[in-house]
Amino acid sequence: MVEPACGSGAFISVIAERLAAEVLLRGLSWQAISCALRACDISETAVTASRREVCQVLQAADCGKKYAESLAEQWIRQEDFISASLPKADFVVGNPPYVRASALNSSMRDAYASFLPSVTRGCDLYISFYDQGLNLLRPEGVLCFICADRWMQNGYGKLLRGRISDAFCLESVIRLQGSAMFESAVSAYPAITVSDLLPTFFKVGSRSLTLLIFSALLLSVRAC
Ligand SMILES: C[S@@+](CC[C@H](N)C(=O)[O-])C[C@H]1O[C@@H](n2cnc3c(N)ncnc32)[C@H](O)[C@@H]1O
Repeated sequence: MVEPACGSGAFISVIAERLAAEVLLRGLSWQAISCALRACDISETAVTASRREVCQVLQAADCGKKYAESLAEQWIRQEDFISASLPKADFVVGNPPYVRASALNSSMRDAYASFLPSVTRGCDLYISFYDQGLNLLRPEGVLCFICADRWMQNGYGKLLRGRISDAFCLESVIRLQGSAMFESAVSAYPAITVSDLLPTFFKVGSRSLTLLIFSALLLSVRAC
């Protein structure tokens, strides 16, 4: 699993809790989950805060202090999600930063636009997070972001809309406008979107519908 911008650790502390529960339930070694998570943040303060959170969670699950610290260091790195070299993932989950194009460093904006397919010089930074997150998905991988939903209708979202409709399956969109989802007020039309990497052949509205149709086809072929 990859968390692209972990901030103070709201998501990864829950992820760590679930991984620790799995270790205890299955009698695994802590080593067994050492490659299960990778989280990034460019801010040193955020990385320190997240590592602290994760250490506390692991220690509460009886992981020794040294091992908890080493897992937290391995999992959480101070790096730019867009340019870091990251492993492919089954899940990319997070809350990317929203930064208007006009507030982005222009050389960084040019660099991202040069290698990401949906990014133009006028895009908000979160478009780069979608692009890079989708790049990292393994076959059948799932990306779930809580993020501004403006890309679904505005000009700078056109390439991302095209990319998702060509090569992915948008499973769910939950619009959160008007709900107090964040600790501080957010005026950016937040929504949760879930996208799967599916072969175009299977690209139908939902995975269960796809499987249903596929199973029906198989049954009818067997019956012939
Ligand atoms: C919306 S916050 C994430 C909040 C997080 N879910 C939490 O629990 O605090 C966005 C985070 O993105 C980080 N960020 C901004 N640009 C980044 C980049 N290029 N790569 C990685 N992290 C970045 C910021 O430092 C900030 O901590």
